[in-house]
Amino acid sequence: MNQVIETILSRRSVRSFTEEPLKKEDLEIIAKAASYAPSGMNQQSWHFTVLTDKVKIQKLADAIAEVLGREGYNFYKPQALIIPSNKPDSAWGRDDNACALQNIFLAAHSLGIGSVWINQLCGICDNEKIRPILSELNVPENHIVYGLAALGYPKAEGKLHERKGVIDFI
Ligand SMILES: Cc1cc2nc3c(=O)[nH]c(=O)nc-3n(C[C@H](O)[C@H](O)[C@H](O)COP(=O)(O)O)c2cc1C
Repeated sequence: MNQVIETILSRRSVRSFTEEPLKKEDLEIIAKAASYAPSGMNQQSWHFTVLTDKVKIQKLADAIAEVLGREGYNFYKPQALIIPSNKPDSAWGRDDNACALQNIFLAAHSLGIGSVWINQLCGICDNEKIRPILSELNVPENHIVYGLAALGYPKAEGKLHERKGVIDFI
């Protein structure tokens, strides 16, 4: 099996991370992989914020906790967040960002880094407690975050889920 297929088939969501910081060069290549995702009509209307400052990560988590009523929320205590955003009026912004996120997950896994999709910002970006924090993180004012990636070295492996038999060859 070639390495790309092996990476795709062995990736799983990781929700427990070690305290070891991620290397800047790894985050750079993961973010670069994100920006090489396909995008509808090559619009590339996305923006990526790479955040490693733990205080800022928890500040965002605290605001999410307050808005969603989820006391103790912490994104699973990652070493980094990569926050793709996009224009809400882009016809394919959500799809483009999902492609970018999958590139993030696969690139991270290929480097021994665990990751998971975080959905909690979806729908609350324009909340008065959230938007100012996103602006501090250089997320463009007119952008929405559909999903983001939490990353770190895996403390515990995620469960490798059985895949359902949904493929027919005719
Ligand atoms: C659109 C979407 C939203 C998700 N949101 C979350 C989330 O908010 N928190 C979380 O822990 N996992 C989230 N996940 C991860 C899924 O739970 C995970 O992909 C699924 O259980 C299959 O496991 P696997 O990624 O290990 O194959 C999300 C995945 C997708 C595609």
